[in-house]
Amino acid sequence: MNFVIAISIFVHLIIQCSAQQGNSVSCSQPCNCSNQNCGTFPGFLWVQGVNTQCSINDCSSAPFPQTGLTDIFCGSCTPFQNAIYANSAGYTCVASTQSCSSTQGWTNSNCQLCNPATPYANASLTGCVNCSSTSGLTDAICAICNPSAPFASGDTTSCVNSSQSCSSSLNVKDSDCAICFPLKPYANIAQTACKSVKCRGRDPKNPGWTDNDCKQCYSPGSKAKKDGSACYNCFATNGMTNDLCQLCFGTGKGAYQYANSLGTCVSVNCSKTSGWNDIDCQACNPATPYSSQSGTVCQSFPSNSSILIQYFISLIIFML
Ligand SMILES: *[C@@H]1O[C@H](CO)[C@@H](O)[C@H](O)[C@H]1NC(C)=O
Ligand SMILES: *[C@@H]1O[C@H](CO)[C@@H](O)[C@H](O)[C@H]1NC(C)=O
Ligand SMILES: *[C@@H]1O[C@H](CO)[C@@H](O)[C@H](O)[C@H]1NC(C)=O
Ligand SMILES: *[C@@H]1O[C@H](CO)[C@@H](O)[C@H](O)[C@H]1NC(C)=O
Ligand SMILES: *[C@@H]1O[C@H](CO)[C@@H](O)[C@H](O)[C@H]1NC(C)=O
Ligand SMILES: *[C@@H]1O[C@H](CO)[C@@H](O)[C@H](O)[C@H]1NC(C)=O
Repeated sequence: MNFVIAISIFVHLIIQCSAQQGNSVSCSQPCNCSNQNCGTFPGFLWVQGVNTQCSINDCSSAPFPQTGLTDIFCGSCTPFQNAIYANSAGYTCVASTQSCSSTQGWTNSNCQLCNPATPYANASLTGCVNCSSTSGLTDAICAICNPSAPFASGDTTSCVNSSQSCSSSLNVKDSDCAICFPLKPYANIAQTACKSVKCRGRDPKNPGWTDNDCKQCYSPGSKAKKDGSACYNCFATNGMTNDLCQLCFGTGKGAYQYANSLGTCVSVNCSKTSGWNDIDCQACNPATPYSSQSGTVCQSFPSNSSILIQYFISLIIFML
């Protein structure tokens, strides 16, 4: 009788020892470990795990599932090191560095692990694509998938054979803009971006610049001369005149309607003949930054300096 008990205890121990308690994972409710909260996997039982988590009671209690896997199950019965996430189709666990249901931060290697049919991270890294995708293409994907058109178009919907990346901002050419951005087929003057209006190579005799052309081709602060012969930069620090400053910034009340001695637009009427103070003088002419006592002119020395000079002279006379 003792012998039988001993045998049964021994058998019980073997069964205990061959059981493989799963890792603890978080189900949908803490401390409530049920199929309802953790997912149903026939032949497997959810039990209380560490702290408020749950775990599969015995990962060897049934054949490893071949379908319907979830991150929770892979996390508890991790089949090999770090394979804690279910792949996108749920037929295997993978050692990706984030869940296959992630919506950001994708890498090519995670894409490959989660879904071999879409092995590349898309342009916004929010999903995965393959060579037949029509969105989210990148230069890297196009270079692999389509060596004769190795760059992603500006809208990332196709691969194109421009002479350089559509995202380049150096030496951008009209021909590349036409290929990369069909709606913006022209390079700007600085050749740093593509624009919808022709910037380079306009008819020199009749360039016909408009404010909008100037903004697109030069800078947002650029405007056209009244006769359309050229654009000028309202924020230029030289070469501006009262007329140009007024074209840029208006003639009413407001800032920057006047040119100073350097040809920069400033907010002070530099032609005024009264009401000068030091601040206005500095804005209008750095060489004469002080207003006269009467405020009628600007000068290169402070108006109180004569007092100082007198003071020094009397000091010297006193010392003699
Ligand atoms: C456990 O979860 C189930 C399913 O969500 C729910 O019906 C039940 O009330 C919960 N039990 C406790 C004690 O919270
Ligand atoms: C490419 O991905 C799409 C879905 O993103 C999929 O339907 C298609 O089968 C994939 N193509 C290849 C060749 O695997
Ligand atoms: C990347 O893929 C995600 C998921 O399919 C999609 O929502 C997103 O728009 C894609 N990004 C780009 C730039 O195509
Ligand atoms: C780019 O492709 C177009 C048509 O797809 C072709 O006409 C052109 O010759 C190609 N250019 C280069 C530089 O390969
Ligand atoms: C600037 O000052 C000059 C001289 O006082 C004056 O003639 C001119 O009208 C002023 N300009 C404006 C826009 O007020
Ligand atoms: C002289 O004028 C300048 C600026 O106008 C001022 O900063 C300075 O304190 C004055 N000095 C004296 C001695 O009044």
